[in-house]
Amino acid sequence: MGQILIEAFLKAGALGTDDIFIYNRTHAKARQLAARHPGIHIAPNNRTLVENSEIILICVKPLEYGNVLDDIQDVVQPEHLVISITSPVLIRDIEERIPAKVAKVVPSITNSVLCGAALVMFGSRLTSDDRKTLFRLFRHISRPIEINEAHVRVSSDLASCAPAFLCLLMQRFAESASDVAGIPRETAVSLVNEMILGVGKLLTEGGFSLESLQERVAVPGGVTRDGLNVLDQELGTVFQQLFHMTQHKHEKDLQHVQRMFYEHT
Ligand SMILES: NC(=O)c1ccc[n+]([C@@H]2O[C@H](COP(=O)([O-])OP(=O)(O)OC[C@H]3O[C@@H](n4cnc5c(N)ncnc54)[C@H](OP(=O)(O)O)[C@@H]3O)[C@@H](O)[C@H]2O)c1
Repeated sequence: MGQILIEAFLKAGALGTDDIFIYNRTHAKARQLAARHPGIHIAPNNRTLVENSEIILICVKPLEYGNVLDDIQDVVQPEHLVISITSPVLIRDIEERIPAKVAKVVPSITNSVLCGAALVMFGSRLTSDDRKTLFRLFRHISRPIEINEAHVRVSSDLASCAPAFLCLLMQRFAESASDVAGIPRETAVSLVNEMILGVGKLLTEGGFSLESLQERVAVPGGVTRDGLNVLDQELGTVFQQLFHMTQHKHEKDLQHVQRMFYEHT
């Protein structure tokens, strides 16, 4: 995700390569990224990265946070803006470990094509100027939306996991079309891909809501209305089950992360 964000900021012209310092545990990965974007600086470790940066994005998995915070806690200063991109690591736990201004921004793979939401949560130390800076930065690659940290899991499901969820649904949609009506699978997939692009534009730029688009397409007596009825009946509780599962997993992840923070203090 760190690589996706760097490449999105470069693509959007929000940052130049000379503005960026990177560090990755496996150095070869950082070298590969820097080779693709000449001018990016490779820091030899997390400490040096912090010493050379104003805004720091931590893009590691939840249970690696302890190690990264251990690495940087002696060098990070109150004026640094530290951004976590990880749902189950609480802002207040990071604030307890370092004196920096801490925010959480959960990006989405959709940000790599400069669209989709980025979920923004502010810690207690950010000034209103810091908040504006953060919004300005992420507006280059996304639509930043401020959310309550208590809703981070479900919001991430909707903004960051949903591209995968939607692709599975659309894959089944196209495969079923092929199975039932004999259309070649590749043709079905092409039709679905173009349809998703168009629906995204209609919902974000075309003045439609989820409800009004259904109404617009489902003309009385047409096949769409019957199709909507089939979906309504057959979908059942599938999405409730999905969200119960992600909420349950989030609780477990929070416990693991709390244990990790507790063991490190
Ligand atoms: N994937 C998504 O769509 C998505 C969306 C929103 C948020 N996120 C969040 O982003 C975070 C990263 O996810 P990911 O999918 O990008 O995972 P990933 O591909 O495993 O990337 C994590 C990177 O962190 C590096 N790393 C681990 N420990 C480190 C340390 N102590 N110092 C420096 N670098 C270290 C790893 O290095 P190595 O090369 O040595 O493994 C790896 O390159 C997760 O917390 C996830 O929740 C992901």
